[in-house]
Amino acid sequence: MNVDRITVRGGKPLQGRIQMKGAKNLVTKAMVAALLGESPSELRSVPEISDVRVVQGLLELHGVSVERDGDTLRLDPANVRTAHETSINAHAGSSRIPILFCGPLLHQLGEAFIPDLGGCHIGDRPIDFHLEVLRTFGAVVEKLPSGIRMTAPNGLHGAKIELPYPSVGATEQVLLGAVRARGRTELKNAAVEPEILDLIAILQKMGAEIQVDTDRTIRIEGVDRLVGYSHTALFDRNETASWACAALATGGDVFLEGARQPEMTTFLNVFRKAGGAFEIEDDGIRFWHPGGDLKPVVVETDVHPGFMTDWQQPLVVALTKANGISIVHETVYEQRFGFTEALVEMGARIQIHTDCLGSHACRFGARNYQHSAVIAGPVELHGADVVVPDLRGGFSHLVAALTAEGTSRISNVGIIARGYERFIEKLETLGADFDVEG
Ligand code: EPU
Repeated sequence: MNVDRITVRGGKPLQGRIQMKGAKNLVTKAMVAALLGESPSELRSVPEISDVRVVQGLLELHGVSVERDGDTLRLDPANVRTAHETSINAHAGSSRIPILFCGPLLHQLGEAFIPDLGGCHIGDRPIDFHLEVLRTFGAVVEKLPSGIRMTAPNGLHGAKIELPYPSVGATEQVLLGAVRARGRTELKNAAVEPEILDLIAILQKMGAEIQVDTDRTIRIEGVDRLVGYSHTALFDRNETASWACAALATGGDVFLEGARQPEMTTFLNVFRKAGGAFEIEDDGIRFWHPGGDLKPVVVETDVHPGFMTDWQQPLVVALTKANGISIVHETVYEQRFGFTEALVEMGARIQIHTDCLGSHACRFGARNYQHSAVIAGPVELHGADVVVPDLRGGFSHLVAALTAEGTSRISNVGIIARGYERFIEKLETLGADFDVEG
């Protein structure tokens, strides 16, 4: 369903059962990994989100056939070919995934082209780590007005790499490049998010040799050939945290089918500290507001196993209802509190600071970035007209509107479909009161 604007009448607790599918931040990378195989791959639990459609379009442009049957994708790389620059630019949309095509395309075709990268506007989001990784593997990188062109005249070779920060994307870049490079790769300061471990599981199924040490070091032994994989994607941890916070903020009770405890323990601790209740079942997790006051918390976002940066936005909405002062220190992206402006318009009492208001100073502290939020509660939010700025911020606006007194009009909600499967249907299932406009 293509929806641009939604009018929400707030005040109804969300109640019911919805399904969590595969993680956006794994599925899209798993689709790229299929490029590396000599035979077709099958990926299950693929959500219907626009980021998946963008990657599908890009794969098809490169000759990969992609068939969807329900929530299963079959990807066949038998006819991989070079795609035209202008079509790549037209298809990439606002996704940042194209950068991850580079390693596999350099292996398969000896060349790759990527467009100017989009993604959410939550900071500079540079790609310097990625380009450095590719150069270290032996790629020749050429910046053109239309994008970045790469070639690998002598193929890619393994290398010793140390990331300046445990970047999720750069770690994936190393994995997708190193598995078929000549020789060994040692990656230090790697990200070890569950989505990365799931990608490693997929690559291992394909025939790759990858070892993860206890100290964020990943060792990869390059192999000559890989085959297709068959895999059920890890559930979406970000979608899970988002709906859980929506239940808490609206005083609701939701069962999130497919959510699992081991990958959510850090979130569950904070959810409980804030006064939320949960129950773990074999087939999912129930999250609810048990009544009484919500409690203020102090949270610092971090790389895994820390509290994810993608979890703070809906949590901040729930914290406007907590009785006292909460603090959220964002240490992953330098500029991820823009979404709070709309919450303040709706009556929230939130101040953003450039200081590190957490237990440790982060790399943004001395650089004047507005990256710590102080949230005073409890407040009653009231309806407002807001424009969705980015994926997670947009979902939090939706949550705020659901808790608010009166009516809110939220525009640009199409962005939310980048990462939340059928969120309109899910809102209906959970009993929200709203109308949509195309
Ligand atoms: N960074 C650089 N240079 C680089 C790459 C990253 O300086 O070349 C910096 C970033 O600016 C940021 C930090 O490193 O400050 C971490 O970025 P990372 O590379 O880990 O993020 P990403 O791979 O671009 C993925 C998810 C994000 C999620 C982060 C952190 C995808 C498609 N995106 O981004 O998800 O927040 O990891 O877990 O996997 C979202 O789903 O809404 C989203 C933004």
